[in-house]
Amino acid sequence: MKNRYLLAVGAVLVPTLVSTAYAQDADGSKAAEARADEWAARTESRMTDDERFGMLHGFMPLPVGVYAKPEDREKWPADTVLGAGYVAGVPRLGVPSLRETDASLGVTNPFSIRPRDTSTALPSTLALGASFNLGLARDAGRAIALEAKARNFNVLLAPGINLARDPRNGRNFEYVSEDPLLSGLVGGEAIRGIQSTGIAASLKHFSLNSNETNRRQWDAVIDRAAHRESDLLAFQIAIEKGRPASVMCAYNLVNGAESCGSDYLLNQVLKRDWGYRGWVMSDWGSTYSADFALKGLDQQQGQQLDKQVWFDGPLRAKLADGSLSRERLSDMVRRILRSIKLVGIVDGAETPAPAIDTKAHDAIALEIARQGIVLLKNDGALPLLATAKSLAVIGRNAHVGVLSGGGSSQGLPAKGWAASVPVGGAGNMGQWRIERWFGGAPVDAIKAAMPNANIMFDPGMYPQDAAAVAARAEVAIVFVNKYDLEGFDSPDMSLPYGQDAIVEAAARANPNTIVVLQTGNPVKMPWRDSVKAIVAAWYPGQEGATAIADILTGKANPSGRLPVTFPASEDQLPRPNVPGYGQPTDKPMPVTINEGADVGYRWFAARNAAPAYPFGHGLSYTRFAYSNVAITGGKSVTARVTISNTGERDGADVPQLYLLSRDGQAMQRLLAFERVELKRGESRTVTLRADPRLLANYDEDARTWRIAGGQYALAVSHSAAEPAAMRTITLKSSSFGK
Ligand code: BGC
Repeated sequence: MKNRYLLAVGAVLVPTLVSTAYAQDADGSKAAEARADEWAARTESRMTDDERFGMLHGFMPLPVGVYAKPEDREKWPADTVLGAGYVAGVPRLGVPSLRETDASLGVTNPFSIRPRDTSTALPSTLALGASFNLGLARDAGRAIALEAKARNFNVLLAPGINLARDPRNGRNFEYVSEDPLLSGLVGGEAIRGIQSTGIAASLKHFSLNSNETNRRQWDAVIDRAAHRESDLLAFQIAIEKGRPASVMCAYNLVNGAESCGSDYLLNQVLKRDWGYRGWVMSDWGSTYSADFALKGLDQQQGQQLDKQVWFDGPLRAKLADGSLSRERLSDMVRRILRSIKLVGIVDGAETPAPAIDTKAHDAIALEIARQGIVLLKNDGALPLLATAKSLAVIGRNAHVGVLSGGGSSQGLPAKGWAASVPVGGAGNMGQWRIERWFGGAPVDAIKAAMPNANIMFDPGMYPQDAAAVAARAEVAIVFVNKYDLEGFDSPDMSLPYGQDAIVEAAARANPNTIVVLQTGNPVKMPWRDSVKAIVAAWYPGQEGATAIADILTGKANPSGRLPVTFPASEDQLPRPNVPGYGQPTDKPMPVTINEGADVGYRWFAARNAAPAYPFGHGLSYTRFAYSNVAITGGKSVTARVTISNTGERDGADVPQLYLLSRDGQAMQRLLAFERVELKRGESRTVTLRADPRLLANYDEDARTWRIAGGQYALAVSHSAAEPAAMRTITLKSSSFGK
């Protein structure tokens, strides 16, 4: 048994080329689909019922805590890889077991259950969102999937694309953005990257898993059309682009129905209206009855976290009493089979994974951090002058490493955890609540980048000490952080541990104070006006220290744009308090999602309110000018714009096309964007084409998108609040699609 893990990891060392057949099938060509359907039907029809039901539920092979006992390992099949999930296969018919791992930021190793198994630890997905770089999303998905495959996993439980509706949500760092287009496109590319390796992606968490507070009881009450125009649109776009093998439903309820038992979400929207033909798996411990199979759930996962293995005995009883039809049972199995065939798991089951190009994956981690770091404010303090003689670096653990987000997506990079701080807390997720700091300390990276400067460090414990050090230096850089993780929201947007007072003290002592945020969310910055520069580094991943130093010194020109609005305070939010915060409940907890489809910047636009920093905002060390703007209508909207880098450095810009209003009514929506790399002095003309659904409203009764005829005000913009060129065009009414 002990050797099982070693065998799986041994595959890393065998350099072999991956068959390119996967890529073809993953294209979803009609012929490939027909072959997959034919194989699925033939294979399923030869199965016994034991084999069928065996594929419909899986356990969590994690012999720790509440999950399983160490001795349980002996009972598990020989091909189990310790991690998130295992579902039996049917070897006699060539159906492999499903061996599942988390997640979007890297292959995880919960509780270090696979000793010494480290992997690339990417920055927060919010950083990927901030890069607005779809190619990078594909590279990231592919890199993580290759590492999963090398460990003998064949399902990656990623990407997560829930819209960031609440800056206190503990899991926003795992998600892309507050915008359906950006989240859908990044998610779609991540899926394409993952599945290009011949393993399956599971797009999660469907839908409205926007908070962690009482997550099994949280009942998102939302207008159905608004849901279609926001979170569901993100999923729809990601599914169209990426064709994920699987979709994972969520813990929470939506309009009174559990997400994994929602006929509306699973049968009507996902499978009927969108024609989704992959399989729906539950989140771990979110199957609450065997009936969920009738509502569209195809597979129960993490079964030991549920009250029963609903999709075994209780579901067999439903087959016996006729409430589960034979057709539906076949459908559940065939969905899994066709998807794994299409993606290449069946064909590739025996194919060893290629050797991992660790350096290339490290480079992806570095690039996401560099492109995802957002320069929020800069009154001339950045980039640091190469001639600076003295710098004060202040802040908790800045001499140790960079912070990462916690929970099921927690990574363990090769350099290891430089510090682990057990935080603890109530409930099962309390044991996961340990701040992990990735090695590579910002202080060291800054020293390496500025060898001639005297770098003084202060841990940021006492304002008086911080002020004293800051006063002695030409520039003070204060690192502040806020730890977020799955299972916990925070009560507000404040920085913990009295860090505001540290920034204020440093800023009073030194007029050249720069703040670097390491957070999983927007935070309140009461000292915003008293500092010279603010850098949002999210959780910057295993190469975070280098990336931060590169940005501070100008080796990399900041190009990240905010994927989430930074509100000035909680009063500006649709829900100033987190509903049910600190009040555990075992009853469904209805929460009115009053912002509906007006998530983030749309909420601010509808109220004409000014946030601290708007969605899409991000500064650069160069300047970009827009000219020759032409916006034309038709079935949709197209904008052409020439972007010129008029500054002194090479850099990247993200022109954004927005709808601002319809017939004078504020109605802001990001319609299209493109990341453009420009050498200094260089110009390029780009065409931004709107997805027509973003100009439309969803008609829930007719189940179709409708563009209302009228006057549409549009803008090519630098951010949601900084239009550069506005035009008004007339659109005719039309309806299209589901
Ligand atoms: C999370 C999922 C994850 C699963 C398996 C759940 O707690 O919500 O995102 O994939 O665990 O680890």
